[in-house]
Amino acid sequence: MLVSATEMLKKAKAGHYAVGQFNINNLEWTKEILKAAQDNNSPVILGVSEGAGKYMTGFSTVAAMVAAMDKSLGITVPVALHLDHGTYEGAKTCIEVGFTSVMFDGSHYDIEENVAKSKEIIALAHAKGLSCECEVGSIGGTEDGVTGMGEIADPQECKRVADLGVDMLAAGIGNIHGIYPANWKGLDFNALDRIQQLTGDMPLVLHGGTGIPDDMIAKAISLGVSKINVNTECQLVFAAATRKYIEEGKDQIGKGYDPRKLLAPGAQAIYDKVVEKMKLFGSIDKA
Ligand code: 13P
Repeated sequence: MLVSATEMLKKAKAGHYAVGQFNINNLEWTKEILKAAQDNNSPVILGVSEGAGKYMTGFSTVAAMVAAMDKSLGITVPVALHLDHGTYEGAKTCIEVGFTSVMFDGSHYDIEENVAKSKEIIALAHAKGLSCECEVGSIGGTEDGVTGMGEIADPQECKRVADLGVDMLAAGIGNIHGIYPANWKGLDFNALDRIQQLTGDMPLVLHGGTGIPDDMIAKAISLGVSKINVNTECQLVFAAATRKYIEEGKDQIGKGYDPRKLLAPGAQAIYDKVVEKMKLFGSIDKA
């Protein structure tokens, strides 16, 4: 059931668990994440980066595919279709074409411009019943061409954006997209705590979910994180399962080259990874 992310995240914040955002790239990704959510009675957020949107030929294609698949699979758990790290223009487009949630990432602007543009996108999203995520500070590393320097968010700036009426707030706390380097210092829980004290009931978003140790995930949730984004980890397990199938020569046995067979182990790996994360985040049976 396609809905905005507002209610599912309010419930998660109050219930001390987090909803997973899993990024999608194509039909297989979307299908496995939806099935994993339905089979485990979990709310879920499908993340679409600007790059993945282009890859799938445009945001309207994505919205049409997700809406149709939600119906044809008979999905009854809450599902939000969410733009990930949207530009100002990208967010405006997604609000028009059937997304149920958008992120406007204005973290690379100075705070005045970030606040002004965030305010505008929040108003446009709310007018159409969508939820909106904004970002303060920045997430380190590069995702789909969006590079952040990994600045720790200023709690006062977080409060300014929270006061705009945003539905969820991404704050840089030392998190990084992609694989964490061996010398990573870990999440800055002092910063997270100061941010949650100033932003109250605001659901906080933890980007860069891949590779964060389980105990840090649990602590982040206890300090107000209600949405955790995972992208790279699904890509890694998909690639490993596909490689294994080919290295074992299974594509050369019978009709093993049939794309539906060739992509099946990778799809299963995505399903299993999503269920594992839903268990870790505590969202199972919370639909
Ligand atoms: P990872 O690719 O590190 O899991 O990060 C995902 C993310 O934060 C999407 O915005």
